[in-house]
This record gives sequence, structure tokens and C-alpha cells, in this order.
Amino acid sequence: MVQFALPKNSKITKGKKHPAPEGAKKTKAFKVYRWNPDDGQTPRMDEFEIDLTKCGPMVLDALIHIKETVDPTLTFRRSCREGVCGSCAMNIDGMNTLACTKATADVSGEVCINPLPHMPVMKDLVPDLSVPYAQLATIEPWMKTESPAPSRERLQSHDDANLLNGEDGKGPAACILCFCCSTACPSYWWNGDRFLGPAVLLQAYRWLADTRDEATGERLDQLEDPFRLYRCHTIMNCTNTCPKGLNPAKAIAEIKKMMVARQA
Ligand code: SF4
Ligand code: SF4
Ligand code: FES
Repeated sequence: MVQFALPKNSKITKGKKHPAPEGAKKTKAFKVYRWNPDDGQTPRMDEFEIDLTKCGPMVLDALIHIKETVDPTLTFRRSCREGVCGSCAMNIDGMNTLACTKATADVSGEVCINPLPHMPVMKDLVPDLSVPYAQLATIEPWMKTESPAPSRERLQSHDDANLLNGEDGKGPAACILCFCCSTACPSYWWNGDRFLGPAVLLQAYRWLADTRDEATGERLDQLEDPFRLYRCHTIMNCTNTCPKGLNPAKAIAEIKKMMVARQA
């Protein structure tokens, strides 16, 4: 059998075990990835036994409970705690999702929590998202127009607005930029420096589909590249994992259709 020799500092070791508090009535184990850039140690998985009667129902509630009552050094991002800001994206039970909308009860057995995959880790559950944000800037995610501005807002028909919002509210404008999709995409894992990934491509499509935007040709020119767009091989991990139920793979397919249509 092939033997892989991983560098010493890439191996995840067994971490500390924090038992349930005395008198705990309903316990569940949370295994959490820990890494501190300042202590020179390899990453470890700490285990926390939590009394579920003492914290809220979501995985984020459990993490906040751990930070407040067991280990204040546990580091993670969160803000809105209602699936709107995208900050608390992490890998829970093997799936990229939002900790604030993932119910602890939906995980059978222990809850295993890791940072979003294939991103450099800054500390514990906090990934470094500088690259995807720099890629987002390249698609210029704002409305570009040349025609004179109207005296009031640029109006859209209901149908045109639906291209962005979706009939079911799950159109590209509903993306919260959590990057669960990009960090679940094998093409992005291997070519993340040049392939824009599903989150950024969904944003690109959001502006291509906007009937008020007047830079469609320029936007398509910018994506016409063997890597930026065409490294998507329709593996669909992105759509399967999106915690908002959006379909970035379809948006990418729509961009490819627009590329073909303009050559006809
Ligand atoms: S459909 Fe494309 S973008 Fe989505 S996971 Fe697959 S390769 Fe990545
Ligand atoms: S498409 Fe979904 S998974 Fe991807 S960034 Fe947007 S909300 Fe997150
Ligand atoms: S805290 Fe904002 S999406 Fe989870």
C-alpha cells in the first residue's frame, strides 16, 4: 500500500478533553479543530462535552457556550446569527454550512467542526479568505452604466428583477458570500489561484443578469479565459452544499451559455 509521509506540522493531533460539567442532564460531544499560529504546536482536535440544556439549539450556540464557559481562546467568526452575514461558515459533520442555521439535533453522534476546507487557517475555525475576496474584486461587483442617470432610480420590470431575486427568492442576489460553495469545489481546491470558483462566478452572473447593467460585453471578456470560468466541470458540490439553497452551478452554466450565444 502507498505510504504518504506528511510533514510533521500538517498532522492533526488529539487535543484536550473537556468533560461535561457536574450534574449535566443532556450531553453531547463537540470535536473542534484548534490551531494557534503563535504557539508553535501542530493542529489538534479538542473535545468538549456540553450540557445541551444550557445552550441554544444551533451549533453556533454551542460554540458561543464553549467560548463563554469553557475556553475563551476558542476563535471563530460570527455576526448576525441568522444566516444573513455569511461569517460563521465552517465544516460541520463533513459538510460546509453556517453554524448559526445548523441545528445540533440534526447531527447524530458527536459534532465534528473544522474550518472551511482548503483555505489557509488564521486561527482555530477562522479561514483566510483574502484570495476569494481579491477574486471578487476582479469581477467588479457593482452596476456599470454609460447612459445618463435617470432623475430617479433605474426601474426594472418584475420579470427582470426575478432574474436576480429568483421566483423562489433563491436567485443570485440572495448569495451571502459565505464561500461554503467555493471551498467545497474540487476545481477550486486545485486551481483556486486562477479559477474564480462558484461564489465569485455566481456574483459575476448576478451582474450579467442585471438588465440595468450596461457592461455585459466587458464582463464576459473578463471571464473568457481557460481558468477563470472554464475550470468548472459541473461536479455540483457547490450547489449541494450551499446553505441558502442557491444554485451556483446553474449560474456558471448560464455564463457559459452567454459566451456561446455571443459567438453565434
Ligand atoms: S459545479 Fe463547477 S463550481 Fe460547482 S463544485 Fe462543480 S466544478 Fe466547482
Ligand atoms: S452561493 Fe451559497 S454557498 Fe456560495 S457563497 Fe453564496 S450563499 Fe454561500
Ligand atoms: S452568524 Fe451570520 S450567517 Fe451565521
